Amino acid sequence: MSHEPTRRACLSATAGFLLAATGWGAKAGAQGADASLARVAAEAGRYYGSAVRIDRIAADDQYREAILRECAYLTPESEMKWDAVERIRGEPALAPIDDLMSFARANEMKVRGHTLLWHRSVPDWAGDFLLERKDWSPIRNYFSDVISRYGDAIEQWDVVNEPIDTGHRMDGLRENVFLRAFGPDYIRRALEDARMLAPRASLMINEYGLDYDIPVEQDRRYLFLKLLERLRSAGAPLDAVGVQGHLDLAKGPFSPKVFGDFLQEIANLGLEIIITELDVKEYDYRAPPEERDRRVAEEVKRYLDVAFAQPAVKGLTSWGLSDRYSWLEITAEDYARYPGVWKQGDGPGVNRGLPLDASMRRKPMYRAIEAAFRRQPLG
Ligand code: G3I
Repeated sequence: MSHEPTRRACLSATAGFLLAATGWGAKAGAQGADASLARVAAEAGRYYGSAVRIDRIAADDQYREAILRECAYLTPESEMKWDAVERIRGEPALAPIDDLMSFARANEMKVRGHTLLWHRSVPDWAGDFLLERKDWSPIRNYFSDVISRYGDAIEQWDVVNEPIDTGHRMDGLRENVFLRAFGPDYIRRALEDARMLAPRASLMINEYGLDYDIPVEQDRRYLFLKLLERLRSAGAPLDAVGVQGHLDLAKGPFSPKVFGDFLQEIANLGLEIIITELDVKEYDYRAPPEERDRRVAEEVKRYLDVAFAQPAVKGLTSWGLSDRYSWLEITAEDYARYPGVWKQGDGPGVNRGLPLDASMRRKPMYRAIEAAFRRQPLG
């Protein structure tokens, strides 16, 4: 698929330099005597990984060591998204991805392709362009920029992210710019284009809000399954599903039967499943950290025990490894829920929804993931 010559890839000359400078090739040394999540997962015939940002890996030695020790897979948190790659039309910025791929290659780690079509990562210039011209070529160009460049080094692609939105259409499809410009068939079209560019990769659709036994998520599971069935019967090249797994202690109940049956229905369609973005948003921040960590760990264990009871579940990625770096924040709303609880300079710290704390220490959530991989009770 040739591009008009005007397109200039902003290539990085720094990858090699960075590789040498920060000892990125030091995975072997990082293998502590103590097992890692990557190793425990592999022993269970699955894999463990984390969302990362390459600038943080380059800048934070402690964090980089933890990533090297614990992870077999890396998911770029933002660098591969269309709005990050092609902020300026025709000038794909690929340097951060090149650096991430170099780091992964140097440390025998795999990279998940995240994400191609997502309503929240459309470049400013592209929305109107797609709607006015109904011209698919900018999407094809972007796909080619990222998929062709890395080839088989990326074995999984979140081709379409978060296509479901309840309360609008009978088919449950989100009325995003892609649907409005190209109709419901945009999903199959994206999968077909990705298949052409990555014939051996596992092509996926990634979705959130599929976890709890509450009406809105019941609807989302139903509409999501209907979408998968339509794509399967249309022969669309779909290989697997990403269940994001953004758990939330304000939500519930979590029903092992309901969630287990949902995963089985996906497996019945011959699709593999990856838990792609596991983390936990806390609710009551008043308790001491130990108590907060116990609640988070128990929620994760309940969830992963059901997930790992399903053979079609092949891997787990958490949406970050350490509370030092998480999109989850303690919001003004969280604080407002408990007026006067915290005095000046005092407070709940950060949301504690990831396996390692902000000092890179393993938390009860880490032990919960470990025990779940081993199919053992939480110690
Ligand atoms: O890199 C730019 C920087 O140059 C600029 O100065 C700064 C201020 O505008 O923005 C920076 O980009 C931010 C990017 O993260 C990198 O930090 C974007 O504004 C910000 O929107 C983006 O947030 C990411 C968000 O997806 C949107 O892409 C979050 O880090 C990331 O955790 C979140 O991840 C999503 C998954 O992809 C899909 N599922 C839900 C999940 C959480 O929302």
